[in-house]
Amino acid sequence: MSNRVIPQDWHRYTAVEHATWDTLFARQVSMLATRVTPAFLEGLEVLRMSKPGIPDFEELSERLVRATGWSVVAVPGLIPDADFYDHLANRRFVAGRFIRPPEQLDYLQEPDVFHDVFGHVPLLVNPVFADYMQAYGRGGLRSMQYGSIHRLARLYWYTVEFGLIREGGGLKLYGAGIVSSNSESLFALDSDSPHRLGFDLKRVMQTKYRIDDFQQTYFVIDSFEDLLETTLETDFAPLYRELDSLPEIEISRILPSDRVITHGTQKYANDKRLNTSTSEDA
Ligand SMILES: [Fe+2]
Repeated sequence: MSNRVIPQDWHRYTAVEHATWDTLFARQVSMLATRVTPAFLEGLEVLRMSKPGIPDFEELSERLVRATGWSVVAVPGLIPDADFYDHLANRRFVAGRFIRPPEQLDYLQEPDVFHDVFGHVPLLVNPVFADYMQAYGRGGLRSMQYGSIHRLARLYWYTVEFGLIREGGGLKLYGAGIVSSNSESLFALDSDSPHRLGFDLKRVMQTKYRIDDFQQTYFVIDSFEDLLETTLETDFAPLYRELDSLPEIEISRILPSDRVITHGTQKYANDKRLNTSTSEDA
């Protein structure tokens, strides 16, 4: 296989590395039980991810292929956008193979195997979310000809990484950046600080995001079906042209047109004096 795929070398993980996975896994599973979308918990079950130790990508892929035709492949950290999109368009999820050191359980400079596999892979068992991820990959390849990668990246950020979903009369987590983080799993649902706004594709693609701390705004989808439909039915070419002439929206702004679910205090960001500018392309 091409496109920068490397072997996972599963047999090379140490006992300490497997134990780090187990610690993170146990902590997140108990925290998420009532907080995450049931589709995520079902994915954990179908993929038998409670098996101790860092998952073997081949074993994981066997189950995932049976469920939705997706597989998991290892890559050496960040890869070029074109390769990333091409993998998604072909139902391959790319994952880092290293795991964070035990003394840095909550600090991540770049996504490790716990973020990538625990955070992202369970939802790929859901047929609708699986289709959305593939549609995203195809859209990514097309976005390159319009110079609009950064806009489409915002869609990924505010859905796949930091999305919330309305479910069972409340809000649940589904974004991988949240569900793989102990502290943000609490913050995203419980804190008075962030805004929670109804998802709107164009609005999201205008909105900056923060890569260095908790999000200041979360976008809430009504269902995975809605997200997939909106993405498939939108003609992105004219939308990108329109967005070129529209202003960027700062991360803590609320607009009159927003469907406000929670108007946050922004206390967390203000107390930490988080800068409102971001470096999305980092
Ligand atoms: Fe991620």
